[in-house]
Amino acid sequence: MKNTVVTFMESKQKGLKQTMLTAYDYSTAKLADEAGVNSILVGDSLGMVCLGYDDTLSVTMEDMIHHTKAVARGAKNALIVADMPFMSYQSSVYDSVVNAGRLIKEGHAHCVKLEGGAEFEEHIKAIVNSFIPVIAHIGLTPQSVNSFGGFKVQGKDEQAANKIIEDAKAAERAGAFAVLLECVPAKLAEIITKMLNVPTIGIGAGAGCDGQVLVYTDMLGFFNDFTPKFVKKYINGGEIIKGAFKNYISDVQNGIFPAEEHCFKISDEVINKLTKN
Ligand code: KIV
Repeated sequence: MKNTVVTFMESKQKGLKQTMLTAYDYSTAKLADEAGVNSILVGDSLGMVCLGYDDTLSVTMEDMIHHTKAVARGAKNALIVADMPFMSYQSSVYDSVVNAGRLIKEGHAHCVKLEGGAEFEEHIKAIVNSFIPVIAHIGLTPQSVNSFGGFKVQGKDEQAANKIIEDAKAAERAGAFAVLLECVPAKLAEIITKMLNVPTIGIGAGAGCDGQVLVYTDMLGFFNDFTPKFVKKYINGGEIIKGAFKNYISDVQNGIFPAEEHCFKISDEVINKLTKN
């Protein structure tokens, strides 16, 4: 089934949980799509898990377009969500519309995600008014890492929890079709989910959200620099892959690879002619 912004929004009324995974390349997107995930997020987490930066701040529009294009070629049914990177929308409402447009037009995403609620109400409105659907990402917004003083759980005291509630309301008012809640207490996420008409997607926000998202390299155990508390590792992919690499090295060193079945043949007649000269 083809997933769209409309099916995404309808899932809340139907009580169906939305599933979202990140992907940054063609092959991974194809696998996630074939597995039946509802949406694929080309997250700016690519800066950390693919490009090796310490945070997401260095990711550019060109990085995002490049990776979104690859994901769009691999996914046939999933809704493709592209992250707006740091400083592609914060600078002005005008920039936010132009850059959201580029992610759709050049990257072939179906919608965009940006970090922020109340502060970016006008930006969200302007993008939505350009017929580009928006997901508002609130709670722990990694592009604000320098203001937060690290990647920390948000909304734990009354004032901070109220700020996240206000952000969620502002995002919905501005026309966001979904709200992504990152690293907020599960009970707060539940309150917000009940309060909103649009679906919530959680990461580190408990089971009360309308859907869940995970960074695929985390859930496969490929990215082991650090593992957030909210990650469930479905396989220890890093160890599996390292084991396969070690087997390959040993096979080559011991003459086991390539074997006959991996080689191309040539007729003896041709070989005889070659060796006569
Ligand atoms: O960039 C990303 O992968 C994200 C997820 C953490 C939701 O925004």
